[in-house]
Amino acid sequence: MKTLALHNLKGGVGKSAAAVNLAYLAASNDVPTLLWDLDSQGAASWYFHGEPAAEKTKSVLSGSTPVGRLVKPSPYRNLDLIPADFTYRYLDIMLKKVEPPREALARLLKPFSEQYALTILDCPPSLSYLADNIFTAADIVAAPVVPTFLSLRALEQVQDYLRAEKLEPRKLRPFYSMADRRRSLHRELIEQPPPVMARGFAAVVPYSSMVERMGERRAPMAVYAPSEDPALLAYAELWLEIKAALKL
Ligand SMILES: Nc1ncnc2c1ncn2[C@@H]1O[C@H](COP(=O)(O)OP(=O)(O)OP(=O)(O)O)[C@@H](O)[C@H]1O
Ligand SMILES: [Mg+2]
Repeated sequence: MKTLALHNLKGGVGKSAAAVNLAYLAASNDVPTLLWDLDSQGAASWYFHGEPAAEKTKSVLSGSTPVGRLVKPSPYRNLDLIPADFTYRYLDIMLKKVEPPREALARLLKPFSEQYALTILDCPPSLSYLADNIFTAADIVAAPVVPTFLSLRALEQVQDYLRAEKLEPRKLRPFYSMADRRRSLHRELIEQPPPVMARGFAAVVPYSSMVERMGERRAPMAVYAPSEDPALLAYAELWLEIKAALKL
């Protein structure tokens, strides 16, 4: 089983939108997929109509409840969900108590390898114990980056953090998200990506009201958007790049 995380220090950049669309595309591409919503905001859970499992995260982390009990079916074939639980806002504190603290998430994912080919982690915007766990567990950490200097700076901060913490910076694979080619700065940064975007994916997810509609439709874009929609095509391209990188 391969693990893909959608993470960035910066909030509101399209992590959850990408996690949900990629999970749907993977599942419809015959890759049995589990999406784990690790953000207490529960955006990905909302899109998939997921209600949190009754089991408490704490008892799963302590080993007294099997992690499989957290899994809920999604409305789609090949796709299951672990919905966010509001106690996830304390996930950092909970993880800190597990030994060794960086490997708790990787250990929790192990039992899923028989049932799923891919786990996608939708992550909250932070650099924390949870982020250390995510970087340890993931094969690829895909980071959506809006083509602006502040977003690029946040990406640099993540890279610096990974180096300082010896957390395999090579796992970090950025891609442009919410790109608006009518803006000259966006165009320039897309056409001449700065060094921090090296190792990035080529797909560029455009700014699109069709993506925003996911909140209203409570569904991945492929369910309601026309097949030639540019944002949907960008997610499809991104999925193919990730699929190849993960050797799925
Ligand atoms: N490509 C896009 N075009 C237009 N709107 C987008 C796009 N991607 C995401 N959005 C919208 O921007 C908002 C933030 O997106 P999303 O929740 O995916 O970001 P996030 O990085 O997961 O945020 P957070 O850090 O809060 O978890 C949402 O309202 C979403 O609908
Ligand atoms: Mg999110």
